[in-house]
Amino acid sequence: MANNQEIMDAFKNNQEGPKEIDTTRKLKVGLIGTGWICDAHINSYMKMPDVEIVAGADLVPGKADEFFKRWGLEGVRTYPSHKEMLDNEELDAVSVCTYNKTHAECTIYALEKGVNVLLEKPMCVTLEEAIAIREAEKKSGKVLSIGFQPRFDPNMKKVKEVVDSGVLGKIYYIQTGGGRRRGIPTPFGTSFIAADTGAIGAMGDIGCYSLDMVLNAIGYPKPLTVTGYISDFFGKDPATYPGHPEYADVFAVDDFAAGFIRLEGGIILDFRIAWAMNLDTPGDTIIMGTKGSLRIPSTECWNGSIGGPLKIYSEVAGSQVETVIPPIASNVDCFYEKVRSFLDAIKNNAPAPVPSSQIIYNQAIIDGIVKSSQAGKEIVLDIPEI
Ligand SMILES: NC(=O)c1ccc[n+]([C@@H]2O[C@H](COP(=O)([O-])OP(=O)(O)OC[C@H]3O[C@@H](n4cnc5c(N)ncnc54)[C@H](O)[C@@H]3O)[C@@H](O)[C@H]2O)c1
Repeated sequence: MANNQEIMDAFKNNQEGPKEIDTTRKLKVGLIGTGWICDAHINSYMKMPDVEIVAGADLVPGKADEFFKRWGLEGVRTYPSHKEMLDNEELDAVSVCTYNKTHAECTIYALEKGVNVLLEKPMCVTLEEAIAIREAEKKSGKVLSIGFQPRFDPNMKKVKEVVDSGVLGKIYYIQTGGGRRRGIPTPFGTSFIAADTGAIGAMGDIGCYSLDMVLNAIGYPKPLTVTGYISDFFGKDPATYPGHPEYADVFAVDDFAAGFIRLEGGIILDFRIAWAMNLDTPGDTIIMGTKGSLRIPSTECWNGSIGGPLKIYSEVAGSQVETVIPPIASNVDCFYEKVRSFLDAIKNNAPAPVPSSQIIYNQAIIDGIVKSSQAGKEIVLDIPEI
């Protein structure tokens, strides 16, 4: 079995080459937050013949300079924050690759400056931030796409195709989530686990992918109510961090979360996600319908991989049968496709490939789980139409 680092690096190193691209219009791109995931962004942008990477920003002094040097790019102007970069550059597009806590401020500022935004997942931290982002996007008329690269994976597309085919009938219950037995991400420090950087934990890191997989498959119905629970038993335990027991004091997010969500259309969503647990998996993803149910074998659910064949359980002529859909082998570079689809949307005046009108529901669920857990009761979600 691959270790966490191998799994995390797998998509970053994908060497799939560029496709035919119209280079008559070049896009000037800036990168905000030159940390770990920014490598995957620049790796994709550098394969695009219609992109000029002109600027970058990071709060850590010297980090952006080192980043561009490492990628062999000269002449890229660097700035100490998103604000200075956006105040001083004429950009067509930015990638927001900052930690969760600054997603909203960077995205809103870029949109206000008339710049198209590819925003890393999760969309932000709270529902209030997501609403503010949507309002800024609407006012700007620019493209805002959220960085869910599994959308471009053939197996994830297959899940949606199965639902769309109608073979499951009316969907009424979904169970999703998953996670890691041990896998609180602290390889480069504490940006995923601190309140002022990560702000949300397993839910923002991997849970949002599980939610996106099933919500996208069923057409993103509006979430109505949430009963949520979050815990931090592993995150707050110094033994979790050999060599860095002090991380336990910094830990201020969820390492486990569970939610029971009512969706429009009478659908129940039962969700749980773990960064650490004494269990192999909290279960497969299942989508239950009146004519058939789909089982998607458990996976870490962060990069569009599936853990085995999809299975549809149904009844044919009085017999209970199972239809097996083998995993689709593919060399699609999902990260490249996520960046390319964003650039194509800008150039073609097309809708965002992963629109915030959908992902605001994903964020509302995550935020609802936090708020319900704090309140100790079910909460009603109030998500305005924007
Ligand atoms: N799509 C994926 O597969 C994937 C994988 C990993 C991480 N992510 C997401 O990417 C985001 C970043 O993760 P990471 O691992 O790269 O974190 P990181 O901590 O390594 O990097 C974030 C960087 O952003 C900088 N930053 C923060 N606010 C800034 C601002 N206002 N202006 C300029 N720079 C700013 C920080 O100084 C830091 O260097 C997270 O939201 C995470 O969920 C996505």
